[in-house]
Amino acid sequence: MDIIGAYPTFYVPYIGSAWVMGIIGVIHVLASHTSVGAAFLFAILETKAYRDAQPQLLDFIRRFGVFLLVFSYVIGSITGPGIWYAITVASPRGVSGLIHNFVWVWATEWIYFTVEVIGVYALVYLIGKIDPLTHLKLTWSFALASWATMLLIVGILSFMMWPGNAAWYETGSTNDAFYNLNFFAHLGIRTGSMLVMAVVVGFIVASGMKDVDLKVSVMRLLAPIGVVGGFFAVMMFLYYLQTLPGNALIMLRSHLLPRYADGMIAVFVVTTLYLLIGWARPQLVKPPLAIALFLLLATIGVWPEERMRESMRKPYVVGQYIYGNQVISRDAPGKGVVGEVDAIAEKGLLALHPFIPDRLRSVTADNRLEVGELLTKIACSNCHSLEPGAPLRSLPDKFHGSGDKDLIAAFLNGPLKHGAIPYMPRIDLPPDEADAIAAYLADVGGPTRAEPTIAATPSDSKEN
Ligand code: HEC
Repeated sequence: MDIIGAYPTFYVPYIGSAWVMGIIGVIHVLASHTSVGAAFLFAILETKAYRDAQPQLLDFIRRFGVFLLVFSYVIGSITGPGIWYAITVASPRGVSGLIHNFVWVWATEWIYFTVEVIGVYALVYLIGKIDPLTHLKLTWSFALASWATMLLIVGILSFMMWPGNAAWYETGSTNDAFYNLNFFAHLGIRTGSMLVMAVVVGFIVASGMKDVDLKVSVMRLLAPIGVVGGFFAVMMFLYYLQTLPGNALIMLRSHLLPRYADGMIAVFVVTTLYLLIGWARPQLVKPPLAIALFLLLATIGVWPEERMRESMRKPYVVGQYIYGNQVISRDAPGKGVVGEVDAIAEKGLLALHPFIPDRLRSVTADNRLEVGELLTKIACSNCHSLEPGAPLRSLPDKFHGSGDKDLIAAFLNGPLKHGAIPYMPRIDLPPDEADAIAAYLADVGGPTRAEPTIAATPSDSKEN
């Protein structure tokens, strides 16, 4: 191997490209899940309106539909391509891996998405203009098309966690990739939570309606759907935990659950109580409360959930064969993919990576820090930011602000070199490259850079 198929590294200072992706992703999940969930609420409400001759329910559907058109669909359609841009620069090989597995799945998804977008316009603007049964059929088609987009994307997202079977590495087949081990569990979680989100957003719309009778009857119909959706999502989450690879379970136990479990349980309890109140005493739910609950769900529910799913996958970004730092970790003969870790150990990133400026191709006393910075960005920055105090697993913080180059080198030449940490890639580099990274990290994280004023302030002299 003379070269690895790497792309230039896109580094976003402080928050890292991972958080850029995370922020766009969470907004997208909120918008898209609300839309898909709402599609089912429309279908259920409209069926009831049709069967029980309650045409006033259609007023709510129209109102909610326009609300979604203005918010969800606009935000969803902007953030969707936003995710493409963000992941393409943050993780070009991850995207490439997905496209090589799922190009037709994506093409199919786009067709359903088109049906969904045309469907929502047709649904909103044709209420009362075509005969009710045809409209009802239109609404159910819209709901199924919306859910199909979710189903297809979930197959792709679940493969990012892992194929779950050895077959895919040999066959490279789209079916082996798509129907991976955690596909159904993952789809179940999202299906349950999309109903909760749609009901919570539906409450915002319903709580602002002047017609009190309609408000009460709509909320009484929606609340139980949200409660059932929430319980279903939790059951599916427990099932999902059974379908995860070992590295994800370690990451979950050691870093994620201790941090997020309490918040997630609290969100579940508060949301369920809120929905029960909406069921029993709909008059108590006013727009400010409804909006507050939505924000709670977004910040303490969806953000940690997406963050956990992304973090659990570490050290991989796709299918347990592409590391987060874009290095291929193992062979996948079904796709003609060859592992790169051993070649990098032997020849070094400086020799094999195509985007190294010539003056940095070999380490000298003059360029050591600069090479170190570049290598750290290539090898670590997908998962760690380089600034002290930064939110994305800051590397200086991980080394406790140490300026001790030998200590850092010991970590690089010990656990990292041997792939001993289950949630980090095996990063095995020639001695001069590891040394350059250690020198750079000691420089950037050590006390002289991170807290330059301490030694100079007179008030500190007491402590010396
Ligand atoms: C694919 C993602 C990924 C890459 C690339 C990566 N790390 Fe990590 N690293 C992690 C995760 C995940 C943790 C767990 C800590 C957390 O989530 O807060 C971690 C933790 C650490 C820790 C703390 C030890 C521990 O067990 O918690 C150190 C030190 C560290 N990384 C150094 C590095 C260095 C140096 C590089 C580059 C040479 C690097 N990492 C590359 C994902 C990564």
